[in-house]
Amino acid sequence: MTTSPSYLSATAEAYDAVAVRYADFARGYLAQVPLDRAILAAFAEFVRAAGAGAVAELGCGPGQMTAHLRDLELDAFGVDLSPAMIDLARQAYPDLRFEVGSMDALDLADGTLGGVVSWYSVIHTPPEELPPYFAEFRRVLAPGGHLLLAFFESEGDPVTAFDHAVATAYRWPIDDLAGLAYEAEFVEIGRMLREPREEERFRRGHLLLRRQ
Ligand SMILES: C[S@@+](CC[C@H](N)C(=O)[O-])C[C@H]1O[C@@H](n2cnc3c(N)ncnc32)[C@H](O)[C@@H]1O
Repeated sequence: MTTSPSYLSATAEAYDAVAVRYADFARGYLAQVPLDRAILAAFAEFVRAAGAGAVAELGCGPGQMTAHLRDLELDAFGVDLSPAMIDLARQAYPDLRFEVGSMDALDLADGTLGGVVSWYSVIHTPPEELPPYFAEFRRVLAPGGHLLLAFFESEGDPVTAFDHAVATAYRWPIDDLAGLAYEAEFVEIGRMLREPREEERFRRGHLLLRRQ
């Protein structure tokens, strides 16, 4: 029997406890962030052009980003650790598929996806645990599939833990996170940094990558 690391159950419990509040916060957020929408639109265009299959949003929370990916004409579905988040996502978007699961051990066959999106979902993974996540993203993506990551950027510091409102999270130097992706044989297509909005604390990092 395999046992999940304790940080995974702690993260799931923390998001279960705030799921309804988080869904209220997340609703309407994308409408306020044009640069985020721009990199999502670019990702969708790359995936559609490659014609390589479905897109998994890993760590999908209440599902609004999965629905946005669907609106960008992608065959999108969501996976999240938190059963309460998955319940909310299924209620809000009954036409979309959502499953409980962890993105480091996906119930998906090798090489079947055209895209993977991790939108602020690797942020809670302790840094030393993160390399296998990229190996798993690579495993489930078809050759030529695309990966999009959004995360808190560390603004010149090394990887740093901080008191995220839900559970301990980590801010990453964009080059270090890109380095983990290169080690898993991804190539970078582009990156985007945006400064925090007035009510936000940290610079935001985005990486768009392709599986070789
Ligand atoms: C900050 S929320 C982001 C939710 C959504 N992507 C969004 O943009 O609103 C982080 C989500 O990642 C999920 N998560 C964290 N670690 C995960 C893992 N290893 N596998 C699957 N989901 C995970 C949490 O349960 C939570 O719902």
